[in-house]
Amino acid sequence: MPVAAATRRARACATLLQQVHAITDIEGITPSALHAIKLKLVALARRADLFPAEDFSMPVAQGRNHPLLVEDGDGHGLYLTINLPGKEAAPHDHGIWCVHAAISGRERHVFYRRTDAGAVASKADVVQVGEVMVEPGNGMAMSDHDIHSTDVVGDAPAIGLALYGYALVRFPSVAWYHPAFGTTRSGVSRRSVA
Ligand SMILES: [Fe+2]
Repeated sequence: MPVAAATRRARACATLLQQVHAITDIEGITPSALHAIKLKLVALARRADLFPAEDFSMPVAQGRNHPLLVEDGDGHGLYLTINLPGKEAAPHDHGIWCVHAAISGRERHVFYRRTDAGAVASKADVVQVGEVMVEPGNGMAMSDHDIHSTDVVGDAPAIGLALYGYALVRFPSVAWYHPAFGTTRSGVSRRSVA
């Protein structure tokens, strides 16, 4: 009898997290470690048979995250994300590293660098420094305080894998940036409530 996709998926996700820890136990969270993790996540996302559409309901509006493997305590969170055409997110930083890889569809990630010294509350200047198209065979990695904006490109949903340093329910405050007005605001941290 063939092994169900959910069983094979659970094994593959557990293997991925073991590989991630094998990398970070030695290296910590460095740019090269994040790059290595990204390549592993891209490889997992290519295994389309593990992520059949019928196992993951579509978003009611804009976007949805399906937990695949959420570690206990302050561990990592691995999700299958679905963002519908038209979904976009303004520039923000998560305060925690993340890695994305596409299963299908295309999502553009634009990266920014903050140029002010943070001396004035609610004020921030950011400049665009790069862009990555997350599409099948490609991914992106961000350090804790890298800033990105996202938008789904084309008329197909962007379906992918997202690995975050913390589970989404234990996320730090997300800082949002408004380049046109030179302002920033911070969301609520979930670090103390989860
Ligand atoms: Fe983000």
